[in-house]
Amino acid sequence: MNSKTHQLRCTGCSAVISGEEAGSDFRCPQCHELYEVEYPGWSSTVAGDEGKRNLPNPSALRWLWKERRESLQPIDQSGVWRYRDLFPILADLNKAVTLREGNTPLYELTRCAAALGLDSLLAKHQGMNPTGSFKDTGMTAALSVAAERGFQWVACASTGNTSAAMAAYAARACLRSIVFIPEGKIAWGKLSQSMDYGAMTVQLKTDFDGCVRVLGELVKRFPVYLLNSVNPYRLEGQKTAAIEMTEQLDWQAPDHVVVPGGNLANGSALGKGFAEMLHLGLINHMPKISVIQAEGANPLYRSFQTSGGRELSPVVAETRASAIRIGNPASWKKVVRVIEATGGSCEQVNEQEIALAKAQIGAEGIGCEPASAVTLAGLKKLVAQGKVAREERVVLLLTGHTLKDSDYTIQYHRGTLLQPEETALGSETEQRQHDALRKPPLVLEADVDAVLRTLEAQMRSEGQSA
Ligand code: F0G
Repeated sequence: MNSKTHQLRCTGCSAVISGEEAGSDFRCPQCHELYEVEYPGWSSTVAGDEGKRNLPNPSALRWLWKERRESLQPIDQSGVWRYRDLFPILADLNKAVTLREGNTPLYELTRCAAALGLDSLLAKHQGMNPTGSFKDTGMTAALSVAAERGFQWVACASTGNTSAAMAAYAARACLRSIVFIPEGKIAWGKLSQSMDYGAMTVQLKTDFDGCVRVLGELVKRFPVYLLNSVNPYRLEGQKTAAIEMTEQLDWQAPDHVVVPGGNLANGSALGKGFAEMLHLGLINHMPKISVIQAEGANPLYRSFQTSGGRELSPVVAETRASAIRIGNPASWKKVVRVIEATGGSCEQVNEQEIALAKAQIGAEGIGCEPASAVTLAGLKKLVAQGKVAREERVVLLLTGHTLKDSDYTIQYHRGTLLQPEETALGSETEQRQHDALRKPPLVLEADVDAVLRTLEAQMRSEGQSA
């Protein structure tokens, strides 16, 4: 770890400590709030001239990051470490543990844009990372710190994606890993990943929030490095998605970025990334950052409704979007600041709306896991409320790959996912959209005539509905 280039600042009482001084739970011993990484020399959080001492030159950075794309070095090929100048946390870059994460596409969602009446709509697909979720971008950063500091064990509590990412990066670094996941409440694809990558996989008979509690005790009694998103180095890697999408937009920051909200670290990380780019002159405006929660796991949404984001009461979370089934999010105060500072919003969406949005993203040939689809479902609400103008450049952050939770997709298309009362919550238009999108598998005799008859019937019915 490079303590000359960075320090940790408590987001509650502003106390500053070195990276090595952080306790095993990454909470301030005085006020129990979370830390954030800052860089004396150029962070905007460092006061006065001190904060402008070594301000990197934006044109030089853009040039350097482009040059690195030509390099054959693993660290330059990583779409996270390529931007390492904005997170100098390691003393020895040879210690970086990389699976060439980042480098994820920014896709046009043309049909979704048209349906919403927007000129365009973009999706930054973080599910195209090596383990299939955005967690790789943060894990490469924080696990490299663990490896450099000589930890033998790393651990996390997870709804499945953090554990998959941690297990993979730990395996690459020859570290031992232990994951706590809520029994029966994560998608099989994710469970299989942590086993495949050799983690000690512990299914606790509780929910995600219960797993966090047990892990919080463990880190005090066993020398293990905590890799949940309370670890501020995770956010340093995750913030690079903001840089990468802006580079993909030729250094024009988007107008609005919409992210799913679970433990609420990702919205915080993107907010930090954009704020740092603005401070350094890499962009000339901040995008709005909006966070969308599932209705059954909506503590942040409720917090805005009841106290304007001042107080948060944990909820017992329940949603089929299992990645964001979180009732007591760790980073809520950080994300409230980001939403307020950028003029973004917090919305909630129900199970029917999530399923429809996921099918619409799938029908564009892109696909994502259910938790990612809350972004499109939430955007529909923001557009309906007049919070997004037709010409605004909106980016949805798709956080996980569609193959993470294929059970959900199959159930949706077979018509067994939603209960009739959930479907009934949708408008008539939404119900028609479901009918048009559902593509259940057909079982036919192995006979070309049977196939042709079915095709003809299909074409007739499409002709009738056209
Ligand atoms: N989308 C996906 C696919 C996720 O896996 C998560 C979080 C989120 C969104 C929410 O991000 O927590 O930063 O607000 N998954 C965690 C996990 C909690 O354990 O994999 P957040």
